[in-house]
Order: sequence, then C-alpha cells, then structure tokens
Amino acid sequence: MSVVVQDLTLAYGATTVLHGIDLTVEPGEVLVVMGSSGGGKTTLLKCVAGLLPITGGDVLVDGVSVRREPEKARARLGMVFQYAALFDYLNVGDNVLFGVRRQRRLNPAEGRALVAEQLEAVGLAGKEGLMPAELSGGMRKRVGLARALALAPSVLLYDEPTSGLDPVTAYAIDQLIVETRDRTGATSVVVSHDVTSVLRVADRVAFLEAGRVVFLGSVEEFKSAEQAGIVELVTLARSEAPLGSGLQARE
Ligand SMILES: Nc1ncnc2c1ncn2[C@@H]1O[C@H](COP(=O)(O)OP(=O)(O)O)[C@@H](O)[C@H]1O
Ligand SMILES: [Mg+2]
Repeated sequence: MSVVVQDLTLAYGATTVLHGIDLTVEPGEVLVVMGSSGGGKTTLLKCVAGLLPITGGDVLVDGVSVRREPEKARARLGMVFQYAALFDYLNVGDNVLFGVRRQRRLNPAEGRALVAEQLEAVGLAGKEGLMPAELSGGMRKRVGLARALALAPSVLLYDEPTSGLDPVTAYAIDQLIVETRDRTGATSVVVSHDVTSVLRVADRVAFLEAGRVVFLGSVEEFKSAEQAGIVELVTLARSEAPLGSGLQARE
C-alpha cells in the first residue's frame, strides 16, 4: 500500500511545524525519515497515523484520505512509538492485544494464539506473562512492534526504533524491521537519526529540516549527497567500526 503525503502542513497553535511536505512511500518500501531533533519527524508520523488534526494538505493511505476518513485510513496502519508506550500495569500479552481489543472481540483462545504468533515473530516467544518492568529496552521495542503487528497493518510507522539501545541491540532491531517488511510486505516509514541504522534498513531516505523535506533519494544518493548536515552524518557512519559495516549490509 502506498502512502502519499501531499503538501502537508501542521501547526501546533500558532506555530507551524510542517511546511508543505510532499512525499510518496511506495508499496513495500522502507522509507527512512532523518533530520535533526525538533525538525518535525514525530509530528509527520503522527499526521500519517491520523493522530493529529492536519492543518493543510492531506495524507493518502492507499488512496484513503487521513483528513476525510481518519478511521478508515487508521485501520490500515500500525505505529511503533519511540518509547514503546507500553502499559506498565498490563503484562506483555495484554499489551500486544491492546489495539486489537479496541477493534474486535476476541475469545481467550484466539487472544492467546494471536499473542503467541506475534511474540514469535519478534523473537519473544513465551514472554507473554512478563510485565513491562521486567523487560530490557530492546525487548520493550519488540513488544511495541508485536502490538502494532497484531493489527495486521499494511503500513508500519516506527518512531526512533533504535534510540536508547546499545549498538548490538540496535542492529537486531534493524534486522527485525527489514525481516518484518520482507515477511508482511508492509510499507514502512522509519524515523531515525542514527545514520548507521538508516543505511542498513532504508530503500530511500528523506531528510527533514525545520519542517521541510530538503533531500529525498535512494540510499546511494544519500551517501553521495553534498548537502550540509548529510555529509557530516555519512562521514560519521563510515568511521564507525565494526557495526558500521552495516553500510554494506544490503549491498
Ligand atoms: N504537542 C506539541 N505542542 C507544541 N509543540 C510541539 C508539540 N510536539 C512537538 N512540538 C514542536 O514541534 C517541533 C517538531 O517536533 P517533533 O515533531 O517532535 O520533532 P522531531 O521528532 O523531529 O524531533 C518542535 O519544535 C517541537 O517543540
Ligand atoms: Mg521525534
């Protein structure tokens, strides 16, 4: 399913944060949105997910307008939040089922089967009884993904999926993002400021600065882009060893 962002504007009160964003995410591709902190990346994801009232323009999820038919557009989307946003008072299994239970009734056996299937897919088989406090940062991110996947979304949105993780755990999460796309075919938008990770997962890269798209292109084009801000990031990634060899991971 494609995601088309058309001249999207978003303001928080009197402050405009997104200034006419145009972007197309092709079916099944992983588009990574990069950019410095405060550039509007999370805001963009939330607009795509129909979580914020769009000020101008629109987002089409497989042709369905988020502005005009938010419920219908949202039904096709899964979002993995930056801090996983787990409910601390619910165990892993109930966290995974949280979104699904708001959409439809599940009998206990169906619920158990769905949880088992999604936890298996994110490498957490058998962990349904644990509480969030018992999970590592990487496990929390995996549960967040399992919760999004339980809705069988055609579009997956990830906000900083590797932030706060050590390099080895971040690497595993990056692999999981690519595996998930390969397995489900979900069109994926990944917000990240970790360039090593970007070069591992992205088909294309968008660079957002102060609410405008200042670069959009393939990973190859990104690596040779001459724009300030991008050059420094790519140089930094090349100097990282040995996980920085992820530069070549998908070539
Ligand atoms: N709920 C909000 N109310 C007002 N301003 C906000 C809100 N959320 C974010 N902003 C502002 O919008 C800008 C973009 O934020 P955000 O989308 O979170 O950026 P990023 O994810 O790229 O770091 C920032 O200046 C931020 O302070
Ligand atoms: Mg953010």
